[in-house]
Amino acid sequence: RRMTSMKEKAYNERGCYSFTKIKQRCPQASGLETLATLVSSVEETPDPIPTTVQGTIPTWINGSFLRNGPAKFEFGEDRYVHWFDGMAMMHRFHIKDGNVTYSSRFLRSDSYVKNTEKNRIVMSEFGTLALPDPCKNIFARFFSRFQMPDNASVNFVKYKGDYYVSTETNYMRRINPQSLETKEKVDWTKFVAVNSATAHPHYDQDGATYNMGNSYGKQGFFYNIVRVPPPDETAAKTDCADLSGAEVICSIPAAEPRKPSYYHSFVMSENYIVFVEQPIKLDLLKFMLYRIQGKSFHKVMTWEPKYNTIFHLVNRHTGKASEVRYQCAPMFTLHQINAYEDNGFLVMDMCCGDDGNAVGEFTLENIRRKSGEEMDKFYNDLCRNLPRRYVLPLNVDEQTPLDQNLISLNNYTATAVKTKPKEVVLTHEELHDDTLLQYGGLEFPQINYTQYNGRPYRYFYSCGFGHVFSDSLLKMDVHTKELKVWRFPGLYPSEPVFVASPGATEEDDGVVMSVIITPRKEKSTFLLVLDAKTFIELGRAEVPVNIPYGTHGVFNEMG
Ligand SMILES: *[C@@H]1O[C@H](CO)[C@@H](O)[C@H](O)[C@H]1NC(C)=O
Ligand SMILES: *[C@@H]1O[C@H](CO)[C@@H](O)[C@H](O)[C@H]1NC(C)=O
Ligand SMILES: *[C@@H]1O[C@H](CO)[C@@H](O)[C@H](O)[C@H]1NC(C)=O
Ligand SMILES: *[C@@H]1O[C@H](CO)[C@@H](O)[C@H](O)[C@H]1NC(C)=O
Ligand SMILES: *[C@@H]1O[C@H](CO)[C@@H](O)[C@H](O)[C@H]1NC(C)=O
Ligand SMILES: [Fe+2]
Repeated sequence: RRMTSMKEKAYNERGCYSFTKIKQRCPQASGLETLATLVSSVEETPDPIPTTVQGTIPTWINGSFLRNGPAKFEFGEDRYVHWFDGMAMMHRFHIKDGNVTYSSRFLRSDSYVKNTEKNRIVMSEFGTLALPDPCKNIFARFFSRFQMPDNASVNFVKYKGDYYVSTETNYMRRINPQSLETKEKVDWTKFVAVNSATAHPHYDQDGATYNMGNSYGKQGFFYNIVRVPPPDETAAKTDCADLSGAEVICSIPAAEPRKPSYYHSFVMSENYIVFVEQPIKLDLLKFMLYRIQGKSFHKVMTWEPKYNTIFHLVNRHTGKASEVRYQCAPMFTLHQINAYEDNGFLVMDMCCGDDGNAVGEFTLENIRRKSGEEMDKFYNDLCRNLPRRYVLPLNVDEQTPLDQNLISLNNYTATAVKTKPKEVVLTHEELHDDTLLQYGGLEFPQINYTQYNGRPYRYFYSCGFGHVFSDSLLKMDVHTKELKVWRFPGLYPSEPVFVASPGATEEDDGVVMSVIITPRKEKSTFLLVLDAKTFIELGRAEVPVNIPYGTHGVFNEMG
């Protein structure tokens, strides 16, 4: 009996099960304010300016908090449609001896330079015009003809000790993290056979960087895992981008070769990488039209919940992919929180939603809706992203029994059921209790990365989404599911970044930093520093500039 209900439960989780249920449990918002000014274009501040410190910024903090995000949404009369289309601006809060300075610069991407010169949005042209290769299939032909944009507004990433600003195309821009100057454009395809790379690579303890990127050729469409070696300490120091030694360690064929999935990040533990092939499909034809006609970003992807979500498990040392197909009900995920191995199981925590259309909804028009009903309607219809835990049994073979929950560790309530040879159906554990729903779910998770990524951990920090943009900072204890919260009306925090105090012994010894903006008052931005343990404010540095709502940030210890 138990077996049957297990199987049933697994299958019943398909479709709208969670979406509807969660929506019913979520409080409906009313009287939400407009966020229009949080997506208004700003000027850059290239020379560092002082800030006014309130409270105390600990004097041991020495380095820069770097942030990225779209900050220019029109050129002349031309306007962008989607929030992600905006031109990337880099922000730097330099912290030393308890003092803070602020500077910012636009990324000099090709689009930024061209658009500025012409004072209008210049569409990408038929670019490189590579000679058509009759052996390549349609995708390869199409991608070799169209120049990909390089207006990277997504994240700061590090390869071989250098900082880059990355988007999800084949290009990255190397940057100087002190002056925020844009350096050379780097083309992944020159180093390794991939045509894209995510903005969320993983770093291992030895300094190697892992990322994933697509390739398409005669054999079809592949998701590739790429490893970039640690910096070569013996090599002469040059001021050049260097991805040499990068290699593809595993290629995963797309389940639907003509309909590859979009992905934004992937999961890494000490020995494994898990790639989640989710039912958000890249529409390559629409993508082409987008390039030609400048159709907005959101039209490029489609949410197709008729497909399952497939977890591909790969040993990152051998590059060998498991033959077992782990699957769960359709869901979408942008950011993973962490993953670790526990006695023959891989535990993976991710921010998930049940409506993959959500990303496309972030058009500037929607974000700029008026206060009140119009805004409420937009927000209340969005799905809430919530932290979920999936547990994958690592040792599944012919002997593994069918139709029973394989998760034998008693601290997990997620399930994994082998339904036929080489197939395991997963259901998740909710990594939160109902308190989180009051804060509107969460996104932008961060952990004490160097020490705990890929390992058992206890805390993560994130943004709560009680509005279309985050309006709280949250600290989650994954053991007890208890939350600590920082939330004040009208204040919109950015992704919180954890910085450990010197000689830290506990996971949360340190501070959490976030940039706080408000649509209520001009030039009222501040850098917030919270005690990571108690989530109590230590100090803030007020900076008299407007900063639009951003994406990701990092702390650079090197100044
Ligand atoms: C990048 O720039 C191009 C050309 O200006 C623009 O069409 C596109 O929307 C921008 N954003 C993205 C995410 O491609
Ligand atoms: C920090 O600010 C204080 C007060 O403005 C000033 O006296 C001190 O010299 C500053 N320190 C540095 C390193 O700039
Ligand atoms: C699982 O539970 C045991 C005891 O119930 C505990 O000692 C262990 O730390 C837990 N494991 C993780 C990874 O939370
Ligand atoms: C993480 O915590 C440890 C203490 O457990 C500390 O030594 C380390 O520096 C921290 N890592 C980061 C990235 O702050
Ligand atoms: C701060 O960091 C810089 C760059 O790593 C280093 O040169 C400097 O000595 C550090 N200062 C203190 C007071 O630790
Ligand atoms: Fe991201």
